[in-house]
Amino acid sequence: MKVATHISAIQPPPITEVKSWLAERIFPTEKPLLDMCQAVPSYAPAAELIDHLKAAISDPLTYKYSPDEGLPEVHTAVCDWYQRRYQGSPTTKQICLTIGASQAFWLAFSTLCQTDDEVIVQLPAYFDHPMGLQAMGVKVVYAPFDPDTAGQPNLETISKLITPKTKAILLVTPSNPTGAVIPPAQIEALFNLAQSHNISLVLDETYNAFLDTAPHQLFNLQNWPETFIHIASFGKTFAMTGLRGGALVAADTFIQQALKIQDSMVVCQPRPTQAALEFGCRNLDNWVEKNSVTMRQRHDYFKTNFLAANTNFCLTASGSFFAWIKHPWKELTGRQAAKRLVDEANIICLPGETFGPGLEQYLRLSFGNIEIKQIDEAICRLQQF
Ligand SMILES: Cc1ncc(COP(=O)(O)O)c(C=O)c1O
Repeated sequence: MKVATHISAIQPPPITEVKSWLAERIFPTEKPLLDMCQAVPSYAPAAELIDHLKAAISDPLTYKYSPDEGLPEVHTAVCDWYQRRYQGSPTTKQICLTIGASQAFWLAFSTLCQTDDEVIVQLPAYFDHPMGLQAMGVKVVYAPFDPDTAGQPNLETISKLITPKTKAILLVTPSNPTGAVIPPAQIEALFNLAQSHNISLVLDETYNAFLDTAPHQLFNLQNWPETFIHIASFGKTFAMTGLRGGALVAADTFIQQALKIQDSMVVCQPRPTQAALEFGCRNLDNWVEKNSVTMRQRHDYFKTNFLAANTNFCLTASGSFFAWIKHPWKELTGRQAAKRLVDEANIICLPGETFGPGLEQYLRLSFGNIEIKQIDEAICRLQQF
């Protein structure tokens, strides 16, 4: 079977690749596998959400299509959620509900770009972004990673990368893989930069529920729709990654164009997901807050104990889901280092180079998926190298 060369040139899905290393491995009870690979909340969804979904599943209407952009009552609940979290909100017409942030990303960039356009992507990049852009035939222009600033985007560096072919600056905040949060003032400066070049600022804010303050004030700017595109995921927020709830937020004129792709791609976000999303946005603020505190505590615990343990690994950046560490083996790539950790420490994590070129010295640890006790164990195992 023939495959387009630009598709065969894309790296394989990193989590699938790394998890394939586990095939035929059996882990002893005294040294079980520590899964620090995937960014999935370790806790279950709220019991009330599960009950609500059980009731929704008995309603025949749940099995029908919804409008392409989603149900009006879900839009309203999502807008209210934004108002509370961001102290500013898009309007209902500026939202298209999607199948995860992943599909929102595809809608955003296939509406924005044509083949050979350029998008500036900050390194380290969430791997699905370059993979998706390459699949769309869009050129990825990387902004280099600066370990001294824990990977914060640099305005001057980014502005030098803008060319007549640039369509957007794409950033993830809080970052996957570093956990670093771009301060609101820096986000506004990046917005102004994008606006002055008549390009878009696209923020993937999949982890926005794990911040203790409003992520930024862009929704309060009158002119935000001219420049800003927001990608949302509700999978981590409500611990329902498998339900695939996300949203594209942009100018209503942009959403109207994106709906052409939505219709031909998926038609709509599934109704069970919309039922869960509406319920979550209307009822689960306290539940989300409690878990967000847990995740921040997990991070603080990891950081304090990792630094105190004085391992040969170096903590370059970290945040509520992730730690971005430098491994001590100069002669090994990230893949080889990650494989060594699976083989010798029974820890599974992601190699740095899956987040972009030149990052072979790094590894991403995710502690969303493991409890405090296992964090102690992970640090103890790293100490042994
Ligand atoms: C930065 C980032 N964007 C998007 C996604 C995908 O989110 P979703 O599951 O909502 O498609 C993830 C998942 O880990 C992510 O880390």
